[in-house]
Amino acid sequence: MFDLGLVNGKAFVCGKVADANIYVSKGKIAKVSGAREKAEKTIDCSGLLILPGAIDSHVHFREPGMEKKEDWRTGSRAAAAGGICTVIDMPNTKPPTTTVKLLEEKRKIAEKKSIVNFGLNFGASSENAAEMRKAKGIAGFKVYMGTTTGDLKIEGDTDILQAFRIAKAKGVPAAVHAEDEGLIRHYAALLKGRGDPLAYCDSRPVSVAIKGLERAIAQASIAKNHLHVCHVSSIEEVRLIAEAKKAGLKVTCEACPHHLFMGRKDVEKLGNFVKMNPPLRGDRERHELLRALETGLIDIAASDHAPHLREEKMKGVWEAASGVPGVETMLPLLLNEVARGNMSLARLVEAVCEKPAAIFGFRKKGKIAKGFDADFTVVDLGKEWVIRDEEMHSKCGWTPYHGWKIRGKVEKTIVKGKLVFSS
Ligand code: DOR
Ligand code: ZN
Ligand code: ZN
Repeated sequence: MFDLGLVNGKAFVCGKVADANIYVSKGKIAKVSGAREKAEKTIDCSGLLILPGAIDSHVHFREPGMEKKEDWRTGSRAAAAGGICTVIDMPNTKPPTTTVKLLEEKRKIAEKKSIVNFGLNFGASSENAAEMRKAKGIAGFKVYMGTTTGDLKIEGDTDILQAFRIAKAKGVPAAVHAEDEGLIRHYAALLKGRGDPLAYCDSRPVSVAIKGLERAIAQASIAKNHLHVCHVSSIEEVRLIAEAKKAGLKVTCEACPHHLFMGRKDVEKLGNFVKMNPPLRGDRERHELLRALETGLIDIAASDHAPHLREEKMKGVWEAASGVPGVETMLPLLLNEVARGNMSLARLVEAVCEKPAAIFGFRKKGKIAKGFDADFTVVDLGKEWVIRDEEMHSKCGWTPYHGWKIRGKVEKTIVKGKLVFSS
């Protein structure tokens, strides 16, 4: 007898959608068959589509230290409601995750509170090489080249090279926030007299991200490590990454929903609520980015879920916090693209399940197949609904997509054979 059966639904198995009854034993997929079997518990998935559990490889769950914005309980609930079965948390917490002790403390908190699977990124700084070498059980290292929330940062190329070499030796990716700090300061000084929200976008133009990326690629070509470029926000970055791949470097990249679905026009409407690093760009840029995600030129989607309280957003343009929540809305917004025929289902599954699992070393995730972890995202591709602040689970209590009507809804989220969300 199996522990759990997902019955009467359709599932994405072996690259296509087919009728399937899926059975789970001890948190693993035990059988994927057309026939009905006996199970202790069944979940009726009539009219629904079962996908491999989605992965969001870029979230900021804020604990320890910034629990006013989010904690592992609320963050993981938001993830589950957004169909995300696995998250990777970033190290810019308070204190930043830059020592083995702090890493293990964060792991304990997450183990206790998280209702979804998690991986942790270890923060690289200019002073913590010895700790980086000792770190165990991490998804990757995070390298911040430019200032953002918190003060974790590496500015010099030799320090970046050292971090990349350690990542290479440990066999994990170095995930990079590639905005060049020197250029950021240069532009900010020029624009500090302006007080409109677009001034912030202008202070971090595409050239800031390009310069950061060029420097990161130069060091990765020496260290020969796996470079994962976070939140690409321009098509020029995508082209540089494609060239680096062609030259034989191991480079992967992610795009975030805000850079795909919002632009400078939204800054005019929502002001500092959509202040973020890197900032929103023009419409041409975002359409090309969306196309690049759809065609696979951009490897994966990740949310960069960066919750901040309303009052932290209702400040002047230079003082307001940077970042938007997104773990709960990423998959629905992408399902909407699938429902509208802009993106194939196979590509969606690759971008949020298969490839994130491959990049961050989750060997038994990303696929519905015997022996894989029993993580499932169950969706209704036909359902229309409206995203609303009041319905979000994140502690911050707002979403930049409030009022957006989309098609494609997460109905159930199952983590290691346990139902963690049902709509
Ligand atoms: O806008 C951002 N917010 N960009 C980042 O890189 C960090 C994030 C945060 O942690 O708030
Ligand atoms: Zn970043
Ligand atoms: Zn981030």
